[in-house]
Amino acid sequence: MIDASKLYYNRYGKNSDLDLSQVDISPLLKSILSRASVRKFLKKPITKEILTLLLASAQSAPSKSNLQQYSILVIQDTSIKTEISNLIGNTKWALTAPVFLLFLADIRRNIKISNDRGYKHKNNNVDTFMNGVIDAALSMQSMIISSEAMGLGVCPISMIRNIIQEVKFICNLPKGVFPIAGLAVGWPDQKAPVSLRLPQDIVTHFDTYKEDNLDQKINEYDERVFKIAPILKEKQRHVDLYGVAQKGTWSENISRQLSVPERENFKKWLKGHGINLE
Ligand SMILES: Cc1cc2nc3c(=O)[nH]c(=O)nc-3n(C[C@H](O)[C@H](O)[C@H](O)COP(=O)(O)O)c2cc1C
Repeated sequence: MIDASKLYYNRYGKNSDLDLSQVDISPLLKSILSRASVRKFLKKPITKEILTLLLASAQSAPSKSNLQQYSILVIQDTSIKTEISNLIGNTKWALTAPVFLLFLADIRRNIKISNDRGYKHKNNNVDTFMNGVIDAALSMQSMIISSEAMGLGVCPISMIRNIIQEVKFICNLPKGVFPIAGLAVGWPDQKAPVSLRLPQDIVTHFDTYKEDNLDQKINEYDERVFKIAPILKEKQRHVDLYGVAQKGTWSENISRQLSVPERENFKKWLKGHGINLE
């Protein structure tokens, strides 16, 4: 039997108050609890049959009103991969995966369907933007879960949004269609470490939202992360602005990251690309 208490420990760096060792969990739950992003891939292809089933799993995700406001772009062509690889800086490794996908929020298709049927589409707004992003994200997550359950490794890639204008041209993305993230998928060539998550008593709230003892709980989480995987200077954010942090903790690093605006022009870009955010 799979020992779920160990999987819990590995995810949080501490034991649960409950005895989880006797819970009979499925191999799928084991795969989800022990997952980690993979950034090194074997030069081994993914068969068309497997890819087809993984894409079906992506489309099996729930979708707001079954509006299915997303698309998936499968990039296998070497020249397109090279073009993106040349633009994406030190995320080049992602394009070495046998399959590189773009998960796209897609409000275009339903506008066209409505117009073709003589209706005026009156929902190009922030709610539809959000629904499209959620649909795309859920389908990506389904793809992640099913890929990992098949022994593949994956890594989502938001860096793709740093080169969104270039990707738009390379991949011929029409107005109303934009990538929420890329996803590198391949057979793993590394055993990626499980990264610790915030404890459940920070992230999960029962009945009402509470922030009791947040500082103390964050400090304790920082200590657990620091013990297992301290954030070394090469991985620390904005060392150029703030110097090397004496203690490479999670909270220090995310605070530094969030102190510098990322993708400031994204809203403007979306508006110019047919996404109305009113
Ligand atoms: C939307 C999204 C975008 C991401 N973009 C990148 C990326 O551009 N480069 C990268 O190396 N990892 C990226 N990641 C992976 C995260 O860094 C990773 O999930 C996080 O550090 C937790 O590690 P784990 O997935 O191994 O548990 C992304 C993850 C998500 C969900």
